[in-house]
Amino acid sequence: MLFQVLRWTAAGLLLASASTAQQQPEQSVNPVGRSEEAIAEGHELYNRTCTVCHGLNGAAGDRGPALGGGRSYVIRSDNSIFDAIQNGISGAAMPASGLRPMEIWKIVAYIRSLRATASDAFVPGDIARGERIFREKGRCGSCHMIGGHGGVAGPDLSNVGGERTLASIRDSLTKPRLQIPRGYQPVEVVAIDGRKIAGIAKNNDNFSLQLLDSQDRLQLFTSDELREITYKRESLMPSDYGTVLVPAELQDLLAFVSRQVVHKAERRRRTQEDDQ
Ligand code: HEC
Ligand code: HEC
Repeated sequence: MLFQVLRWTAAGLLLASASTAQQQPEQSVNPVGRSEEAIAEGHELYNRTCTVCHGLNGAAGDRGPALGGGRSYVIRSDNSIFDAIQNGISGAAMPASGLRPMEIWKIVAYIRSLRATASDAFVPGDIARGERIFREKGRCGSCHMIGGHGGVAGPDLSNVGGERTLASIRDSLTKPRLQIPRGYQPVEVVAIDGRKIAGIAKNNDNFSLQLLDSQDRLQLFTSDELREITYKRESLMPSDYGTVLVPAELQDLLAFVSRQVVHKAERRRRTQEDDQ
């Protein structure tokens, strides 16, 4: 860490940008903007030039870290990403690229697009068809709410496009969980009287368990009312939508889901209503 700070201070960059960056959101200085076309060209340039070390499509590679969503970055702003690609990262195993400035800016646009929340990203697809897939073929609405309608087994997705990157939403639909998030752990209990109940553990400690059952009812048990508690390894969230849906359907669904945002003013209004 110290080493990185020294490296940046020597470059005169950190000190120059930190004071302004903290007060206001960073303005994009990228001359090629964030157009779909620039991003596509940057993507191609990246895959052609950078994947000796980094992985394809911004994933981690043998010799370089992942550049896309899902982790925190040392190098964030348009300018500092540009600088890293143009001059390399001294002290690390990243050489100067030798690309022309306009090519570099396109790669910067591409890298930023990987990190943006889904609602900022360009997601092609038919939104209306995506909504139908959400309600019907995907049965997403049986477990998830959007705008106050739907099930409660999974998280409310009303603002998912404003919170998650496109890559993480896609992963949720197509990859098994490494770890089930708190509050969504499937559990099966056997009560003292022999009844078996399956559901999701909402709150649990040594003395009690609050369980959301398959009819979306909350049931509270104290530990002396239970004979057995078994936590399941698999999340209720299906991870096989990559095969259940054909690629065009998955794309339409992503177009719909990634546009689910609740604007700040609306969020504030809702919280106030909840408080009253
Ligand atoms: C020879 C291997 C190599 C090549 C080629 C390479 N990189 Fe890197 N890159 C690295 C390594 C290693 C790091 C990690 C540096 C560090 O941790 O300080 C890195 C870091 C980065 C970072 C900063 C990541 C962060 O977390 O902030 C960016 C952005 C980046 N590379 C972009 C690129 C782009 C774009 C290209 C192609 C033009 C490229 N790199 C080519 C090895 C490489
Ligand atoms: C049987 C219930 C069920 C169905 C059906 C279901 N989900 Fe989920 N989903 C969950 C649960 C539970 C979680 C939280 C646990 C987890 O992430 O594994 C979750 C998590 C997610 C997440 C991650 C959200 C976050 O903020 O962490 C997304 C995105 C998501 N689901 C989208 C969908 C979409 C889109 C569909 C339909 C194609 C769908 N889900 C169908 C139960 C379900």
